[in-house]
Amino acid sequence: MTHDTPDLRIAVDGAGLQRRLDELALISESPAPVVTRVLFSEADVRGREYVRRAARDAGLAIREDAVGNIFARWEGSEPGLPAVGSGSHTDAIPNAGKYDGVVGVLGAFEALAALKRAGFKPRRSLEVVMFTAEEPTRFGLGCLGSRLMAGTIPVAKALALRDREGRSLDELRAQAGYSGPLDSVRLPSGYYHSFVELHIEQGPILEAQGVPIGIVEHIAGPSSYRVTLLGEGGHAGAVLMPVRHDAMLAGAEIALAVERAAKASGSPDTVGTVGVFRIEPGAVNSVPYRAYLEIDLRDSRLDSRSKALAEIRSAAEQSCSRRGIRMEFEEINADPPAAGDQKTIAIAESVCAELGLRSLRMVSRAYHDSLFMSRVSPTTMIFIPCRNGWSHRPEEFATTEHIASGAEVLAHTMARLSA
Ligand code: GLV
Ligand code: MN
Ligand code: MN
Repeated sequence: MTHDTPDLRIAVDGAGLQRRLDELALISESPAPVVTRVLFSEADVRGREYVRRAARDAGLAIREDAVGNIFARWEGSEPGLPAVGSGSHTDAIPNAGKYDGVVGVLGAFEALAALKRAGFKPRRSLEVVMFTAEEPTRFGLGCLGSRLMAGTIPVAKALALRDREGRSLDELRAQAGYSGPLDSVRLPSGYYHSFVELHIEQGPILEAQGVPIGIVEHIAGPSSYRVTLLGEGGHAGAVLMPVRHDAMLAGAEIALAVERAAKASGSPDTVGTVGVFRIEPGAVNSVPYRAYLEIDLRDSRLDSRSKALAEIRSAAEQSCSRRGIRMEFEEINADPPAAGDQKTIAIAESVCAELGLRSLRMVSRAYHDSLFMSRVSPTTMIFIPCRNGWSHRPEEFATTEHIASGAEVLAHTMARLSA
């Protein structure tokens, strides 16, 4: 390497990093190879203990905030300067794999450990964050920790969150050992000088093109909605078809409207999914009187996302009025897309060139905590290939070599940013 780190020769311990990824994957609510670690579940709490241990092993100092974001820090020679940040999440949706998020936490620990072994001395502090609840499984809202850090969610809205069993964030965080006012989670302005998140691509492009590193220029804007449908139940044999108010059928029409609107939006980046669809009472011989859906709608452009949403709402209203169903349609979140910081991107790109690794500028269609870090800091992400683009499923896979390359690029990029 040249420039700010002339003598820096780092050796990432790929095998050690892989071992830690494998160990953390065994801390799961479901048997291997499935990984499930829902926010503040017993597995998430044990996973947090693993993360603390791994941070200490990397020689980092730990602090935790009121919502459970874990910060692992290497103090620079000028500790008053804004720090260089990295990190990701270790919570995992039901039936997930072992790389989503985790590569960006354990990989960042290894990046800093490798810099330490190489004798590097940072000027700005280097800090790795394990963000609380990047995944929306518990409360229906993703990136809870980074939203609070960036101040993009009102504390009152976070306090009003309830899970399926009606438990509040306050109740669950207290059980996991976290307390204190939630407004203390917000970062002081200018806290980070820059932020770089390492993550598997969760798409097929890098693998298909044989490129080991992606550098993220844009993150698509996610939005999600909660739809509650109230019809009328009754005996599946006795209630005749002309007088039914079947909430499930209205839900089915709404799910199809989501697909139709996303396909017809005019933007190739519009994607719409109904990933939650529950009916009550859920008995084969009973007409569903209640249906509950969660819609995920994303786009790299806000105009086409809004157009698709308008179409979905209008189709939902028509279906409900035809079927005599009462509907509540509620926005959970509607976030704008994020742009990566060009200077930070250029630094990561030149690191790749100097390491002899090809790189590609990319759009992230998945969201990440970087979506919110980009509101408070110059930000980019480093992507590595994953097999067939698979993610959010147990077959998710990335090679040790690609993971180690990602950690190496992250280490040099953070070193350069810290100078
Ligand atoms: C993050 O996990 C996402 O759903 O994009
Ligand atoms: Mn995920
Ligand atoms: Mn992720």
